[in-house]
Order: sequence, then structure tokens, then C-alpha cells
Amino acid sequence: MKMSELPGIERRVKLSNLGEFAKRLSVMTNELREQILAPRPRKSAPSFTIGELSELCGIDRQKINYLATKEGSELPAGQTNGTGRARIFSLKDVRAWVQQVSDIYQTPLVTGTREHRGRVLITANFKGGSCKTTTTMCIAQGLSLRGRKVLVIDLDPQASLSELCGLYAEKDVTWEDTVLPFIYEPDIEGGLGAKVQSTYWDGIDVIPAHNYLHDAEFHLPTAQKSNPGFEFWSVLRQGIEPLRAQYDYIVLDTAPALSYMTLNALMAADSMIMPLVPESLDFISSVSFWSLFAEVATGFVEHEVDKTYDFISVLLSKVDYGSTSSAPVVRSWAQRAYGEWLHTTEIPASSVMSNGALAFSTVFDLSRSDAVAKTLARVKQPLMDYCKWIDDQYVAQWRSGQ
Ligand SMILES: Nc1ncnc2c1ncn2[C@@H]1O[C@H](COP(=O)(O)OP(=O)(O)OP(=O)(O)O)[C@@H](O)[C@H]1O
Ligand SMILES: [Mg+2]
Repeated sequence: MKMSELPGIERRVKLSNLGEFAKRLSVMTNELREQILAPRPRKSAPSFTIGELSELCGIDRQKINYLATKEGSELPAGQTNGTGRARIFSLKDVRAWVQQVSDIYQTPLVTGTREHRGRVLITANFKGGSCKTTTTMCIAQGLSLRGRKVLVIDLDPQASLSELCGLYAEKDVTWEDTVLPFIYEPDIEGGLGAKVQSTYWDGIDVIPAHNYLHDAEFHLPTAQKSNPGFEFWSVLRQGIEPLRAQYDYIVLDTAPALSYMTLNALMAADSMIMPLVPESLDFISSVSFWSLFAEVATGFVEHEVDKTYDFISVLLSKVDYGSTSSAPVVRSWAQRAYGEWLHTTEIPASSVMSNGALAFSTVFDLSRSDAVAKTLARVKQPLMDYCKWIDDQYVAQWRSGQ
């Protein structure tokens, strides 16, 4: 038999076979997730050493020890495992300390609601894998460590943010749990607030996503056609409005596309963060984001719909200055293109972030015992600095009564 007569591999694929294929894949990913996320509860918040608490509060360890053990102290004393062992604090403890003893500006709650209006941040970029979801979660975690109460809303059907919040999107989340019931019926009882769930992370609540979110892409344009008075772009903004009284920050994670849902998010946001991986294709793609968004924005402005962003910030992420890296060149392009918008803080590429993804976690989920402190700090510190930068701007507004 000649070689050419060997039976070939059947490579043709019928559309009708894809269903079976997808089913097999989902069995496999279910098994993987069970391995990675088991046991329940799927995620737990890290604990904090006295050193970490001291950094977060900006006071020294002796003073913490003194305040923790002082008679009549209402501050959480943390736990010591055995005599002479250092104190360990839970996330909840840490947040209580930051709120009560750090010099980070806090406002008291007035009958369960804030004195100031919460601010809405969005991470947006049409390029897939540009660190949007990681940035969203890290910002939420970083802000919560400044004592803030944060709501994250997952608007990406991929539901990665929901997974970072410890949910197993395909199993734990239903259509009902997402923003969809509100999008379909803005008058629904309880509004968007009825969809809020608490998470494993004290200070962060979530409205999760599911693959079903694609439904909004059919519903919103259809509703617009059948009712010219309907404003398809402002549904989410209206839903978020009452939630501003309950949260300091509401952070929106979007899909890598200019979908109707992303547009709603862009119109709901007070400020925009564009994470940018300094690689040439990512840069080009970030530029096309602006031309596409500008085109849509022009359409809005023609209909007398305008808005102001408090800031637009381009955050270089997953930055690798290795010898073969194009990062320095692309950074100089970004500087030229974005000028003041390009933030001086950069988030370095780090294996703690990429390995973290395997376990559906971010660098903030790791305790000092999980990784070398210096390795963690290399990524955590710029993220905390960036959160401080965001927070400082809004604190200035809150202080002036806005
Ligand atoms: N600083 C970092 N160092 C190394 N890897 C990182 C870093 N930040 C994020 N990553 C990894 O990069 C990948 C893409 O990140 P992420 O999922 O946040 O991007 P995304 O923009 O949300 O993607 P999508 O467009 O699919 O929603 C993830 O595997 C994440 O763990
Ligand atoms: Mg994402």
C-alpha cells in the first residue's frame, strides 16, 4: 500500500456535532473546577500578619499591640496561636482597624447609608486578556483594604469576575441572579439591589454574571425599536443610582466588545480605567477602542446625550521588561497617545498573578505564607498605590460635599 492510500484523519466537523462536543468539554471543565475550587466554601479570604496590618493602618506594630490589648479596647485583638506567637488578623478585623485607627478618611454611616454618593468605576478595553477582570477584582480588594465598601458587577458573559468572587458561575448562578431581570424589567421589585450577593471577601458584594448575559444583546435593541422613548444606554445607570447610597465604590467588569451591555456600563461609569498590556497588538487594539467608542459617543452627543468622566486612566498591566520585551517601546507609544491619562504606576507581570488564575484568585488572595513576601509586594504595592490614587480623588470630592 502506498503512503498516499493510508486512511486520513476525519477532520470535517458538522455544526450539528458541536453540541456533543461542547457537552464533553463542559464535563471536563466541571471536573477541573471541582479539583481547583474544592472544598467548599470555594474561597476564603487571607489572614493578615501584624506587619501587614501595621502597613495598612500606617501605625507601628507596638502601637497595634498596645491598642489591641488595652483595657476596654473595642478593636479586634486578632488571634495568637500559642504564647509568644505573633497575632494574626482576619480580613474583617483588618477592615475594622483601618476604618477606626488609620488616617484614611472614612465617613460614618447614617442609618445604614453613606453620607456621600458611591462612585462607579469601569474597567474597559476591547482586547481580550488585557487584565480587565484581574484589575477589577484587585481594585475592589485594594479599595476594601482602605475600609471602603465595594460592589462589583460582572457584565461579561464569560463570568470570570464571578469566579474570582468564589462563585462557580455555571452552577451557582442562574439567569435570575444576574443583572438580566432588571434589564428586562427595570421596575422589578427591589431593583438592581435585589441581585446583590455577599462574597467570601468582607467589604465586597457582587452581582454575578452568566453566559445568559448575551440575552441583553437581543433584548436592548428590540426594546429600543418597539419603544422610541426607551433609552437602551441608561438602563444600568438607573439601576445603579440607588446603590450609590450603600457602597463607596461600584466597579463594573465588561466583556472585550462594544456590546449593548458594555455601552450601558460605559454610560453608567463616573470614571474609566483601561488596563493595557504593553504589547504592540494590545496597543493597536486600545486605539481602535477609542475610535469605536468615539463613533458611538458622537451618535449620543447628536441626540443631546452627554456625560463627563471624572478621569480616564490607562494602567499598564502585566508589564514585563525582560530583555526581549517590546514593553519599553510600546510604553513610549502609550505615552505619546495617552499623555496624562497614562498612569505612572505600572503593574508588573508576575507568576503569582498568572498562577493565581489557576486557583481563581488574585495576588490579594494570597497570604504571606503562600508566597515570598517580596514577590507579593512587587504586585500588591503598585495596586495599592493605584487604589490610593483613585480613592484620594474621590475623598477630595466627598470632603467637599459632592
Ligand atoms: N500582573 C499580571 N502578571 C501575570 N499575569 C497576569 C497579570 N494580570 C493578569 N494576568 C493574567 O492575564 C490573564 C488575562 O487577565 P484577565 O482575565 O484579567 O483579562 P481580561 O481583560 O479580563 O480578559 P477578557 O477580555 O477575556 O475578559 C489572566 O490569566 C490573568 O491571570
Ligand atoms: Mg475579563
